[in-house]
Amino acid sequence: MSDLKSRLKDPSLLRTDSFINGGWEKGASRFDVNNPANRTKVADVADVGAAGAKQAVKAAAAANLEWRRTSPFERARIVKRWHDLIMEHQDDLGVILAMEMGKPLAEAKGEVAYGAGFVEWAAEEAKRVHGETIAVPFPGARGWTIRQPVGVVSCITPWNFPSAMITRKCSPALAVGCPIVIKPAAETPLSALALAELAARAGFPKGVFNVVTGEAKHIGPVLTQSDEVAMIGFTGSTQVGALLMEQAAKGIKRVALELGGNAPFIVMDDADVEKAADGLIQGKFRAGGQTCVSPNRVFVQEAIMADLTEALAERVKKVKIGDPFEEGVQVGPLIHDKAVERVSELVSAATAKGAKVVAGGKSLAKELGGSFYAPTLITGADISSSIAVNEIFGPVASLYPVKDEAEIIKLANATPYGLAAYLYTRDAGRVHRITEGVDFGMIGVNAPMVGSPATPFGGMKQSGIGREGGKWAAEEFTELKFVLLSGIDE
Ligand code: SIN
Repeated sequence: MSDLKSRLKDPSLLRTDSFINGGWEKGASRFDVNNPANRTKVADVADVGAAGAKQAVKAAAAANLEWRRTSPFERARIVKRWHDLIMEHQDDLGVILAMEMGKPLAEAKGEVAYGAGFVEWAAEEAKRVHGETIAVPFPGARGWTIRQPVGVVSCITPWNFPSAMITRKCSPALAVGCPIVIKPAAETPLSALALAELAARAGFPKGVFNVVTGEAKHIGPVLTQSDEVAMIGFTGSTQVGALLMEQAAKGIKRVALELGGNAPFIVMDDADVEKAADGLIQGKFRAGGQTCVSPNRVFVQEAIMADLTEALAERVKKVKIGDPFEEGVQVGPLIHDKAVERVSELVSAATAKGAKVVAGGKSLAKELGGSFYAPTLITGADISSSIAVNEIFGPVASLYPVKDEAEIIKLANATPYGLAAYLYTRDAGRVHRITEGVDFGMIGVNAPMVGSPATPFGGMKQSGIGREGGKWAAEEFTELKFVLLSGIDE
């Protein structure tokens, strides 16, 4: 058993029951949450099943009218209090996150702050949900629009960002007046439950904030198909996103989906090679490469291939892998052993077709005693191999030489995904031509990360529908109504 409780300054943040209608529910059965760094049990958590999910949806629906009628200024105050509590407990939330997910502790605390940024932004935006007046072509008539909350939102969230994907989805929904039911990933429910504890302290009314834990196959259909649910927000794989969308289609429910990616990381021959190498290390090894926006295919113009490979090899060999709680560790374990097997298979398939391992290239599960895979650099993989076609979701960078802009745009777009892309160049013409030519929802130019509370986050093609973040988030969770007034002032 891992000693999570003893590491917390506020042990009451370690909650293991579901949070439904303002109370903690034990559920009919329990499931284990494990520490991927050493495979020990961290806690057992309630599985409330379909019955618990129904109870949560009912509670959210009962709270709906009162919450949407609560003044936006009051909602903003409660959401802001939640933000303040999250930041006050940043260290503890970081410890919980690092232990259940495996992110290095400093990075885990960074995720908590990143996620809290969305809560603060949402609290501010609660007061800025505006309509418009419209000149209408009817004598004596007036027209205007109003924006109103969509209603109960189901938020189904992933294990790779156990805190920030909850806050990025839920805080704008809450701020504009939607009650929520969160279903966190079974691997990482403890961060979600700690956020629920803080939400309770922040003063959300009963039923507005619910977290249901347990098996997705029982809880998911309730959250996507209940009549009382108006919208489903999901971050996760394209495969599961398609399934949820199919379930939601029966009730014509609104969906916001942030799905898989296959990000190109393009380095042009005029780029600053050292900065591009630093950027790739930062983007690629964040969360051990387990993010939907991780650079997946590194396209390098031929003239600088040798220089960039050398600069990267030097850096990748120095990346420190180990226990998330060890000082200076940059990469922790993958989420579980199956993830290690999957990454190993992708690398083996690439090398079988002629790719060369420049650094890493093996599981470290035996050496380090957990679900570890070495930070890896490979060159010469075939562009049609599984490592180029699939999301790697691991600490492996694979480089592909490319000739010119036309080839780069063609190869970058040769994927059903369209979430994030990265471009390193100092040529303004290239910036415009390539950012306009590639089909991705977010493009970092000389920048290896794209998310922030102020900016739109989301993808094109099979990477999803809708945008989280910035002013766009409030639009996702509100309905636009048009009012035509006639017969008053003729
Ligand atoms: C994700 O991988 O889904 C989120 C990454 C981010 O917010 O940067």
